[in-house]
Amino acid sequence: MMITLFQFLVIAAPIFQVITASDADPLQDFCVADLAKDLTLNGYPCKRAANTTTEDFIFSGLRNSANTSGPSRADAVFGFVHSYPGLNSLGLSIARLDFAPGGLIPPHTHPRGSEIIYVVEGSLYAGFVTTQNQLFARVISKGDVMIFPRGLIHWQLNVGNTTAMAIVTLDSQSPGFQLIASSMFGSDILDEVLVKTFFIDENAVRQLKATFSGSS
Ligand SMILES: *[C@@H]1O[C@H](CO)[C@@H](O)[C@H](O)[C@H]1NC(C)=O
Ligand SMILES: *[C@@H]1O[C@H](CO)[C@@H](O)[C@H](O)[C@H]1NC(C)=O
Ligand SMILES: *[C@@H]1O[C@H](CO)[C@@H](O)[C@H](O)[C@H]1NC(C)=O
Repeated sequence: MMITLFQFLVIAAPIFQVITASDADPLQDFCVADLAKDLTLNGYPCKRAANTTTEDFIFSGLRNSANTSGPSRADAVFGFVHSYPGLNSLGLSIARLDFAPGGLIPPHTHPRGSEIIYVVEGSLYAGFVTTQNQLFARVISKGDVMIFPRGLIHWQLNVGNTTAMAIVTLDSQSPGFQLIASSMFGSDILDEVLVKTFFIDENAVRQLKATFSGSS
């Protein structure tokens, strides 16, 4: 039986829908964010095209490593729209992750973007957990690439004896970065909620709140 083009499109439509980008499709070549103007419903207003320059499309923030002397011995430098206005409306962002030996980017999510990581140097135990609590994790090393699907909890731990560095890209200009532990214990949630969520006593809750207070 011959399948007409129309029938093919009807059958394949759900497949094409899967590749829809996170951010809205832009209706112009670019829209360098005018950060001086307020955010609109879905992004920043555009700088005038006549005022746009090559520099608007270049970001040098990843030249320097992130500061790894904090308690988790790892951190990220973000090239999100707020620091890299040329990304506005393009559904893209980038970040650099640096790790001292043993350093951890703790479990977190990007509610608005899928992530792809490329390990430039070192070895990371990286993984994510699905909404069904299925774990996908292993050690990835220099040259490896791994995906963390949008919104899922993921982390990267330096398991090598040297520093590690990775570059990540995300399919949103503003994917968001929400650390699980600090969201729970650094946000002033009523103690009773945390006692009943984690089955720990109030002393443990207070101790964890002290650890994460002021974190964001
Ligand atoms: C364009 O750039 C010029 C020079 O930097 C500045 O004076 C002017 O305010 C800008 N215009 C707009 C609409 O942003
Ligand atoms: C790096 O982080 C440490 C600890 O958080 C801080 O004391 C130090 O000032 C930071 N260094 C730089 C260069 O920002
Ligand atoms: C790290 O160093 C220890 C002790 O020197 C060694 O046993 C281990 O194999 C090293 N691990 C890696 C990943 O190089």
